[in-house]
Amino acid sequence: MDKKIVLITGCSSGFGFLSAIHLAEQGYRVIATMRNLAKSSDLDDEIKNRNLPITTRQLDVTNIDSIRRCLREIEDEYGRLDVLVNNAGYGIGGFFEDLSDHEYRDQMETNFFGVLNMVRESLQLLRKSDDARIINISSTAGLTTTPGMGAYNSSKWAVEAFSESLRQELALHGMKVLLIEPGPYPTKVLTTNTRFAEKAHDPISLNYKFTQQLYEKYKQNNATLKSDPMEIVRLIGKLIAEKNPSFRNVRGPGAKFRAFMHRFLPWKFNEWVIRRVIFGKV
Ligand SMILES: NC(=O)c1ccc[n+]([C@@H]2O[C@H](COP(=O)([O-])OP(=O)(O)OC[C@H]3O[C@@H](n4cnc5c(N)ncnc54)[C@H](OP(=O)(O)O)[C@@H]3O)[C@@H](O)[C@H]2O)c1
Repeated sequence: MDKKIVLITGCSSGFGFLSAIHLAEQGYRVIATMRNLAKSSDLDDEIKNRNLPITTRQLDVTNIDSIRRCLREIEDEYGRLDVLVNNAGYGIGGFFEDLSDHEYRDQMETNFFGVLNMVRESLQLLRKSDDARIINISSTAGLTTTPGMGAYNSSKWAVEAFSESLRQELALHGMKVLLIEPGPYPTKVLTTNTRFAEKAHDPISLNYKFTQQLYEKYKQNNATLKSDPMEIVRLIGKLIAEKNPSFRNVRGPGAKFRAFMHRFLPWKFNEWVIRRVIFGKV
């Protein structure tokens, strides 16, 4: 079979942007999608300067028409899709009480239903590949929980459950579903793309003091982050190339430890650590 066709969502920055370039360098034919093509100039420059096999396309994972349009173009040009990387996402911070119904649903619309939209619409083209793979970028937040991040946690836990079930279903048809659970990496999701509930920074909120403590901790941690997003990007390449890649792939600073702690240590201990680390309470 000739070059594998790879579709990646959320390529305007971060893991998506870097993996489009990396996978093209590895010889894949990449369809790099983003919801706002006005943000494509950096990627366009790379494509032009290095003659990379990347096509940029507009695609918003919450907009079915944009997904269908993009997939139709892939079908017309290549007749199949080999790899779907569900990468697009963002995180909204805020205590549950301070999140509006709309803010919570928006988080689920992008991080969870966006993945479902992509898989549902892509399956027909993936079936035309002889080695179809779906890689879902979840998060260590999909295996653990943190106060003030409940909406993001819920969206990524949902991605985890969906992926587990889908993996077993699609294995019957020879397709692979794979998960990556990154810990913190310095991309825009931790800075300019971080959103907060509108009420989270309102001093009249009953949670205001705690949210500020959380936010301070978040900023401190991010300021000293030394992790390299290319670790995740190279891992995506490995999951595409390996014959039998692992289903779950937890990576990044503290990620394996947190996932282990959440899964295997008593819940009381988990709560104590979170309270102590974030709120300084014993
Ligand atoms: N970096 C980390 O520490 C970390 C850790 C765990 C998991 N993750 C996950 O990794 C994935 C990529 O994030 P990143 O770290 O690379 O951050 P990023 O630089 O903020 O990239 C996020 C990308 O998702 C796009 N996006 C958001 N909503 C979208 C939508 N409705 N349709 C299409 N694209 C949309 C953004 O586009 P715009 O530019 O238009 O907003 C951007 O291209 C996310 O799923 C995130 O949850 C990241």
